[in-house]
Amino acid sequence: MKQFFKNSISIRKIKLYFKKNKRIKNNGLNNKIILIKENNQIQELKRITGLKVNINGNNNVIKIHEPYAFENCHLTINGDNHLFEVQKITNPVFSIRNTSFIMRLGNNNSIKIGKNLSMVGGYIQAEDNNTFITIGDECMFSAEILVRTSDGHAILDNQTHEVINSGKNITIGNHVWLSFKTTVLKGSKIGDDSIVATGAIVTKDYFNQKNVILAGIPAKVVKENINWNWQSIQDYERYKNGTA
Ligand SMILES: CC(C)(COP(=O)(O)OP(=O)(O)OC[C@H]1O[C@@H](n2cnc3c(N)ncnc32)[C@H](O)[C@@H]1OP(=O)(O)O)[C@@H](O)C(=O)NCCC(=O)NCCS
Repeated sequence: MKQFFKNSISIRKIKLYFKKNKRIKNNGLNNKIILIKENNQIQELKRITGLKVNINGNNNVIKIHEPYAFENCHLTINGDNHLFEVQKITNPVFSIRNTSFIMRLGNNNSIKIGKNLSMVGGYIQAEDNNTFITIGDECMFSAEILVRTSDGHAILDNQTHEVINSGKNITIGNHVWLSFKTTVLKGSKIGDDSIVATGAIVTKDYFNQKNVILAGIPAKVVKENINWNWQSIQDYERYKNGTA
């Protein structure tokens, strides 16, 4: 009896392991999924722990730098010539969790993420043709974040019937904190060492304004000359006073 329970527990553990580490679905030609190791050696990947990958298309590249830390994330690639690249996460308390990365509705899009992103959850979508999302180093993204280069559906000029809402690139600088439920829409840029307040919708280019807080709908600069630290206020005070 004891042995039976022992066996069924270990079968459950094995099933859980494979569920968490599902293989990459690669439907297409010449797609490259590579790990760049700490010694710069390159290794082809068959699975990425914590990141479920589904590719339908050709000539797409996924580059993951070691060490990486995904948890319950998805990457969906439909179309051709997309690039997804994530730099290493060296801080052991950081990880990218509960996030869907999406590149579909077009070709030649890219999502490039810098070193040490800490993210609780949301959607990062580079869509339409030839759009990119660039996220700098040391960023901290909260939960329910939406970053997307496209509106997903066409808006037309009523006279000319031309599309007026084509996708536009998004750039997020180094050390940017996106608070809970923030949205970053097409064409937006956020400067280094800045914060986006909870519930804000960023729609414009603020790249040259570093060290600011953006808040509201549409987001505007509400404070200048600030910076932030990922630690809690208590931990930061202890660290600053040399008591940590
Ligand atoms: C931005 C934030 C961090 C506060 O920073 P702060 O320096 O204390 O800013 P203040 O509270 O002094 O606000 C500055 C101004 O912005 C306004 N403001 C602050 N947060 C705002 C928001 N989310 N939406 C709209 N306006 C906002 C304030 O009313 C104030 O306006 P005023 O100058 O007209 O009085 C905070 O508002 C916030 O968004 N917190 C949520 C953080 C979060 O999501 N944490 C999850 C863990 S990652």
